[in-house]
Amino acid sequence: MEKKIIIMGGGPGGYVAAIRAAQLGAKVTLIEKEALGGTCLNKGCIPTKALYRNAELVNNLKASEDFGILVDNFTLEVNKIQERKNGIVHQLVSGVEQLMKANNIEVRKGHGVLYSCEENIKKVKITLDDGREEIVEGDNIIIATGSHTFIPPIQGVNNEGVITSDDIINFKEIPKSLVIIGGGVIGMEFGAIFNSFGTKVTIVEALPSILNMVDGEIVKRLNPMLRKKDIEVHTGAMVKSIEKHEDKLLVNVEGKKGEFTLEGEKVLIATGRKPNIQGLNLEEVNIEYDKKGIKTEDNYETSVKGIYAIGDVNGKWMLAHAASHQGVEVAERIMGIDNQGSTLIPNCIFIFPEIASLGATEEQLKAEGINYKTSKFLFGANGKALALGEGEGLIKVISDEDNKIIGVHILGPHASDLIHEGVVIMNKEVKVEDIKHMVHAHPTLSEAFYEAVLALNNEAIHAVPSRRK
Ligand code: NAI
Repeated sequence: MEKKIIIMGGGPGGYVAAIRAAQLGAKVTLIEKEALGGTCLNKGCIPTKALYRNAELVNNLKASEDFGILVDNFTLEVNKIQERKNGIVHQLVSGVEQLMKANNIEVRKGHGVLYSCEENIKKVKITLDDGREEIVEGDNIIIATGSHTFIPPIQGVNNEGVITSDDIINFKEIPKSLVIIGGGVIGMEFGAIFNSFGTKVTIVEALPSILNMVDGEIVKRLNPMLRKKDIEVHTGAMVKSIEKHEDKLLVNVEGKKGEFTLEGEKVLIATGRKPNIQGLNLEEVNIEYDKKGIKTEDNYETSVKGIYAIGDVNGKWMLAHAASHQGVEVAERIMGIDNQGSTLIPNCIFIFPEIASLGATEEQLKAEGINYKTSKFLFGANGKALALGEGEGLIKVISDEDNKIIGVHILGPHASDLIHEGVVIMNKEVKVEDIKHMVHAHPTLSEAFYEAVLALNNEAIHAVPSRRK
């Protein structure tokens, strides 16, 4: 009998699950109240990467003299920047719409609420965009409703000029100064973009370090790079209140050495995201959740059999690619394919230079008392990186007692692409000795990964030996 699957949410979790389920012969209804593509496509990953590219070009122009290219002057045209960014978003959203049609997925535009969840039949009530209500029935439901910006209860947070990532991507003018509350991924990425655009950027982070989840050595090496770019970072600093003073915002901060005030034309709230669990009727249908999100088993099934929660709403990884991977995994399981999925999720941060990481950090291994070995290779000794004018940063690899790579951490050019060699090697549990016999082309950035791996056994060629026999 044909399986009927209802998917709530059309972001990278929901729409990918829909396509995979349809490929396998399911009849799929996808409910989405806004544009298909979710946060990632409409106001997250994609528009920010479009802006990141603008920032990259600006950086290249600023560095052009080093390459013997003299550029007299250049200006940023915000309208054009926005037009280009919106064009990319539009192209991708239309692409997803077409994919829905091509896969015979029924897209219902409106707000879905869990209505009844019996073992043999499950119902979702949709309030359609035109106000009409409709009930759809299915054998399974996949909840993929995503997340929203968390606004902390800081006094003055509602002042004009205090904005979130949803607002800042549609900026109409480049602010002269920007105070960013939160030194996580969102804060750092917008900090990097606007710093390149010429904005004075100040970041306030409550924890002892920015990018708290990243390997400590990477952050330690990043810090002086940020200082060189005049990005001001205050760690161990809590924002207490925000005041509007004429056309400026004053941000009062409790720092390590007492209170101080920062001034900004705009203040960006980047203090995390929260799962979209409100208004789904979760209690009434007995789906368990907590403030981190909908609780699921390892197979993403919720406390109600046949109902799954994937992506940001389950709070496991707030990353688009994790959501998509879970979507495929769940769609296949529902359709009878044994897909165990993977929890080896790469993390990429688009700043200058990029950061990418996978697997264990040194801090985690120390805390868990696991024996490990590390090595690194600096991009400064890599010919391709120097040719690109991007010789800053490093690749660090971590291996276990079994000589398998268990962590890869990259700070440097194209880190977000280079990390995928780590993805393949770690998923296939390739040993260090075996990587040695895998020829890497010259001159490439990938040689830095190869050399970092060789360095685990003190065999890197373009590195000064750490000790002589
Ligand atoms: P986050 O949780 O990564 O960082 C928020 C930071 O704000 C934390 O370090 C926290 O200590 C700090 N903070 C909270 N309250 C504060 C206060 N009152 N004063 C000072 N600091 C305070 O959250 P973020 O950056 O908002 O990102 C949300 C999610 O989106 C994350 O899971 C992130 O991984 C994901 N994301 C991923 C991207 C990528 O993969 N490139 C890009 C953007 C977001």
